[in-house]
Amino acid sequence: MAATTTYLTGIQTSGTPHIGNYIGAIKPALAAAQSTEDYDTLYFLADYHSLNTVKDPAELRHNIRSVAATWLACGLDPQRTILYRQSHIPEVFELATILSSVTAKGLMNRAHAYKAARDRNEAAGIADLDAGINMGLFNYPVLMAADILIMESDYVPVGRDQAQHIEYTADIAGSFNHLYGDSYSFPIPQGSYPAGEASLLPGTDGRKMSKSYDNTIPLFLPENKLKKLIRRIPTDSTPVEEPKEPDTSVPFQLLTQFADADRLAQTRKRLEAGGMGWGELKNELFEVINAEIAPKRERYEELMASRELDDILAAGAERARQRSRRVIAQVREAIGIA
Ligand code: ADP
Ligand code: TRP
Repeated sequence: MAATTTYLTGIQTSGTPHIGNYIGAIKPALAAAQSTEDYDTLYFLADYHSLNTVKDPAELRHNIRSVAATWLACGLDPQRTILYRQSHIPEVFELATILSSVTAKGLMNRAHAYKAARDRNEAAGIADLDAGINMGLFNYPVLMAADILIMESDYVPVGRDQAQHIEYTADIAGSFNHLYGDSYSFPIPQGSYPAGEASLLPGTDGRKMSKSYDNTIPLFLPENKLKKLIRRIPTDSTPVEEPKEPDTSVPFQLLTQFADADRLAQTRKRLEAGGMGWGELKNELFEVINAEIAPKRERYEELMASRELDDILAAGAERARQRSRRVIAQVREAIGIA
């Protein structure tokens, strides 16, 4: 069978999406989905991966809907791209168990996230370097390999920080193919990484915007709250008349991601010349962000309040399972479990 090329990526449901996720991940991924017309594209919510960090059931439930609604509101076309929840695909978890038996423990010992957790224990002077580390974190790469392989993915668009996970997946698939390849082989997936340096948005405190730092601007904050949050971004106390340095200020850095080139050049000039205050800059920032977000926010709220969202995810799961059932049947046959 001449299979079409498959393009798959996973999105953790570990928080409510913020404008850093929007600029750094959502927008580029949606642009990529549109430019890969000949491909099958699958985007899924890695809700079981998020269980490692989100322990509050109400929060997890909210995050799952919120992330799905965000992607749809931002333009993901569920006819074109199969959107589904990892937890709706039981074959993923069966495959993860199977892959465990061909995965070297040493490979997991060298995984970046696991090593980083041990390093933190060491730095804190804790004798047991595995203290506080659960098996979900340790097994994370195997579950991710199952996500990718169960759909016979060819390309996996992810950030550079995920490169090791993709290499591990290729490695695990290679071990499986070596053993069982006479009967069934997984295609070896490749990472597809953004060209050039990703622009990292600063958060309200000037550090990288991240839910871990509690410094985010949530993407779909109601308009009045968005305005208030932007007004509260700290800036220095340079008086209105004085010249200002745009590039070191958080509001201007954020503006560069949302305003067009002309507007940006004009604002830069006014700040550098003096006469434009930080308050006015923040008003402008609110306006450009809100202009881009407002129509999407409306759609987001509509989806969050309706069953339509659940129906889209159920339909996506059904389409995804047509693939996963076919693959798991071949895998079972190959390993001698069928
Ligand atoms: P967080 O740092 O808030 O936990 P995630 O790690 O869940 O965010 O990020 C999901 C994706 O969003 C990342 O792969 C990255 O591409 C993008 N992203 C996150 N924070 C930023 C940021 N501050 N600027 C640009 N992109 C970001
Ligand atoms: N680990 C990815 C991240 O943190 C999320 C993820 C889980 C994923 N499974 C995947 C990405 C499969 C691509 C393919 O961003």
